[in-house]
Amino acid sequence: MTLQEILEHRRAVRIYDPNKPLDDEKVKSCIRLSTLAPTSSNMQLWECYHVTNPEVLQKLTHACLDQSSARTAQQMVVFVTRQSRHRDHAKQVLKAGIDDILKNSPKDRQEHRIRLQKLYYNGLMPMQYSRFLGIKGILNKLLAQCIGLFRPIVRQVSEGEVSTVVHKSCALAVQTFMLAMSEQGYDTCPLEGFDSRLVKKALHLPYNCGINMIITCGIRLPEGVRGDRMRIPFEEQYHKV
Ligand SMILES: Cc1cc2nc3c(=O)[nH]c(=O)nc-3n(C[C@H](O)[C@H](O)[C@H](O)COP(=O)(O)O)c2cc1C
Repeated sequence: MTLQEILEHRRAVRIYDPNKPLDDEKVKSCIRLSTLAPTSSNMQLWECYHVTNPEVLQKLTHACLDQSSARTAQQMVVFVTRQSRHRDHAKQVLKAGIDDILKNSPKDRQEHRIRLQKLYYNGLMPMQYSRFLGIKGILNKLLAQCIGLFRPIVRQVSEGEVSTVVHKSCALAVQTFMLAMSEQGYDTCPLEGFDSRLVKKALHLPYNCGINMIITCGIRLPEGVRGDRMRIPFEEQYHKV
């Protein structure tokens, strides 16, 4: 399929065929492809749970308010944000960055580039991603406002805004996954209509993670797609500047 065909084939599917199971390995390979999605600062603060166990599927269906897409799904993939892993991920990204500089940068630039990378991943990342009852975000916001008087600066640094940053990156992985599934001829539906407390309970997840989206998976029945695709006029969304 061409990219256009993949995009046109992907629809939000609300009823899946109960007689068409999915190949776990193919779904897993689509999840692996989703890791190629970009993330902010390459921090990759997300993970996912590929659910095939019928008991857990049942619990998740209940958590998804018994929506038909969940009720009829053969499998589900739950995308979860893990902001609290920022230190570990920053360490891994920094190490890879330094290795890359040593391998590919001119000798006379290496020291300077490594210093910048260390400043970014050892200094800025913990400052951006660590949380403390919203207070940390207020302090970051004040600091950004002050520095912003003199130069351009990223201002979306409150704890709520940083959480949005993490969710944005995770959503790109979600879309990558759904397109990979579409290429396999598999169908999906992204859900945010769920009770996050019940989802965490079903998957034994900690309180401090975020449930980004639950993707139901299966192969569509013809009536599983609700009507023709509706999009608002392109002119309302497209602005050439
Ligand atoms: C973030 C997000 C949350 C969604 N949540 C639900 C949901 O809870 N239940 C549902 O049936 N569809 C849900 N959808 C699917 C949308 O309703 C659907 O994508 C939209 O109507 C466009 O249809 P299409 O995907 O077939 O083009 C969600 C989509 C997104 C992107």
